[in-house]
Amino acid sequence: MCQPEATPDRRIDYDFWNAAGSIDFGMFFAARPFRRAKRDSVHWRIPPCLRRLPDTCSLPATEILVRDGTMVVVLGGAGFIGTAIRRELRRRRLGVWNLSRNVVDYTRPEILRDHLQAREVQCVINSAGFTGRPNVDACELAKTECLAGNAVLPGVVRGVCEELGIPWGHVSSGCIYTGAKADGTGFTEQDPPNFSFRQNNCSFYSGCKALGEEVLEGADRCWIWRLRIPFCHRDSSRNYISKLLRYRRLLDARNSLSQLDEFAAACVDCIERQVPFGTYHLTNPGSVTTREVVDLIRRTGLADREFDFFETEEEFLQLAAKTPRSNCVLDTDKAAAAGLKMTPIREALERAMCEWVWE
Ligand SMILES: NC(=O)c1ccc[n+]([C@@H]2O[C@H](COP(=O)([O-])OP(=O)(O)OC[C@H]3O[C@@H](n4cnc5c(N)ncnc54)[C@H](OP(=O)(O)O)[C@@H]3O)[C@@H](O)[C@H]2O)c1
Repeated sequence: MCQPEATPDRRIDYDFWNAAGSIDFGMFFAARPFRRAKRDSVHWRIPPCLRRLPDTCSLPATEILVRDGTMVVVLGGAGFIGTAIRRELRRRRLGVWNLSRNVVDYTRPEILRDHLQAREVQCVINSAGFTGRPNVDACELAKTECLAGNAVLPGVVRGVCEELGIPWGHVSSGCIYTGAKADGTGFTEQDPPNFSFRQNNCSFYSGCKALGEEVLEGADRCWIWRLRIPFCHRDSSRNYISKLLRYRRLLDARNSLSQLDEFAAACVDCIERQVPFGTYHLTNPGSVTTREVVDLIRRTGLADREFDFFETEEEFLQLAAKTPRSNCVLDTDKAAAAGLKMTPIREALERAMCEWVWE
């Protein structure tokens, strides 16, 4: 299941990968000079402790905590996307630390700074944000939260990471675009958002995501990872395939989508392989319409019923939505050129459906 592994009673959810054997603490201490590296250096080194941990390690998490081991801090790591990123970091035997607002209020710069400074943190991943439940319509009624989580917080993280010279990644969204380019191709990272407050055509959520990226313009040592409509093989209320299976009526639209685990792997690849900083569209190459996904659902035997569709987007907006939705196609050439591998969209969808695990 794509469910968070929350540990609310612990001050820090320190989910360092913890198997059997012994750990070389030299790995941790050797990382110290990294944090003090010159901020203006063009390249940054992967600190030794970001190399894979030995397969064998019997120390309890608390002991590692006492040693103050260095690692990747994931803000909002218990959320849907943060959980996938932490799972990938652990799979690669990299150290990961989840920060939750209810234990360390990372939305306050002084608290975040003190927290990162007190620990040997090599990299920060901001997977925090306000998405609205059950969908982005909820953001129209929770504007303060939405603005704080999606537009203000990225600036806070930027300020602190730049001050401390820590490289960091920001989970953004492709929902700052609508449609495709005039020639039918997807938007590239160079294209300015066309679904934002500046165009005055967007949902409050998309507007805030676009603002959050504006705040990061010219950011130092920062990756912006644009995610779009996540799906995977684990049935969950946040999974796009699960939503299609359960919604009473569907809107047919063409979109780029992100296979959740591949998205997480691409984020971690950026860190491990020192991919140049900048913005990346981390969606699976290609695009699909809702009807095409539904066809795949039926063909793979995930469901054999008929699916009901809204006649038009206007009908959908009138009957089922409070705010316009982004439906868009993204170009993934830049990510592919950087070696960030994502499976073509139809193949990725088919695989998720064939490996489907019901909740
Ligand atoms: N899920 C999607 O479909 C999707 C698609 C594209 C982009 N994204 C982006 O990916 C990021 C993570 O999304 P998600 O689906 O993982 O969301 P999620 O499950 O709701 O988790 C986000 C986490 O962010 C933290 N947070 C920090 N400030 C917040 C605020 N003001 N309001 C609410 N939560 C806040 C919370 O963690 P703590 O309280 O534990 O700190 C929360 O658990 C967001 O930036 C989102 O915009 C998501």
